[in-house]
Amino acid sequence: MDNIDKKIIQLTKEKTISGETLSSFFGISRTAIWKRIKKLEKLGYKFSHLKEGYKLILTSPYLLETEIKPFIKTRLIGKEYIFFEEIDSTNIYAKENNLNEGTVIVAETQTKGKGRKGRKWISTKGKGLYFSTVLKPEININQLLRFSLIFPYSVYETIKQENLTPKIKWPNDIYLSNRKVSGILMETDIEGSEIKKLVVGIGINVNHNIEDLNEIKDIATSLFLEKGQNIDRKRFFIRLLQNIEKNYFQFLENKLNPIEKVEENLLWKDEEVKILDGNKEIKGILKGLDNQGGIILQIGNNLESFYSGDLSLR
Ligand code: BTN
Repeated sequence: MDNIDKKIIQLTKEKTISGETLSSFFGISRTAIWKRIKKLEKLGYKFSHLKEGYKLILTSPYLLETEIKPFIKTRLIGKEYIFFEEIDSTNIYAKENNLNEGTVIVAETQTKGKGRKGRKWISTKGKGLYFSTVLKPEININQLLRFSLIFPYSVYETIKQENLTPKIKWPNDIYLSNRKVSGILMETDIEGSEIKKLVVGIGINVNHNIEDLNEIKDIATSLFLEKGQNIDRKRFFIRLLQNIEKNYFQFLENKLNPIEKVEENLLWKDEEVKILDGNKEIKGILKGLDNQGGIILQIGNNLESFYSGDLSLR
């Protein structure tokens, strides 16, 4: 969408405008205007085509730049914003392109949505939030796990603002009623001890119904299913981007300890869990997080920390 499209939206929102007026305003033909209107209609905008001209009657339901960017009060996250109606994976795009810090790539659907450990991420069109952001924090790699916790915490906070009671499953999933509602895939580009680029990919089941989650309905849920009403994806997304930015800067300024925040809202705390790391399975009681962001399991009388692996209930 270029500046002419944006202006057409703005002008026709206010009042009915004839093709002729638009055509002389932009210095392009009436056919060119009509083609642009058609293109905008494909993007979900609805216009009435009256004898007197065009009038915008319904804005697009998509997470388009024009629907999101003007409403995010951030200086970094979303400063550059790239929208796709469909893409293989927003993480792949973010990794393969040279993008500035803070760029947000969002898609209405993904054909190859990726989860951790080579799993796929179901990306039902128009129902969820599937996006990645590029970050280049000046932190040491041994701080990375601790740093990565700001993302599940940001998702947690945003879901909480919907009056729901999420829990954070270490290291970076969000659960509601013991089912997964959001997952995060952080991919790193590290050279030596320098972090060149971090791609943080976040997937959230927002308005998915049971059929959308059919394959995984026993282990997954959505905000809609938990709340019993549709969620305004745009409002939710704007809040989430703002929370990410707030937490990112607070972390860099040493004003936020994400370990504390995750620990306070940790799923399965004091319960019997197992952790699968490679093909090793270790059982213990989940006690909390250590000061690097790893989890502490009580195994017999000992406390042991783990820094990777998949946690589940025994
Ligand atoms: C997981 O739970 O295993 C992580 C899921 C991450 C999914 C998101 S959706 C947006 C971004 N693009 C991807 O391909 N994956 C992440």
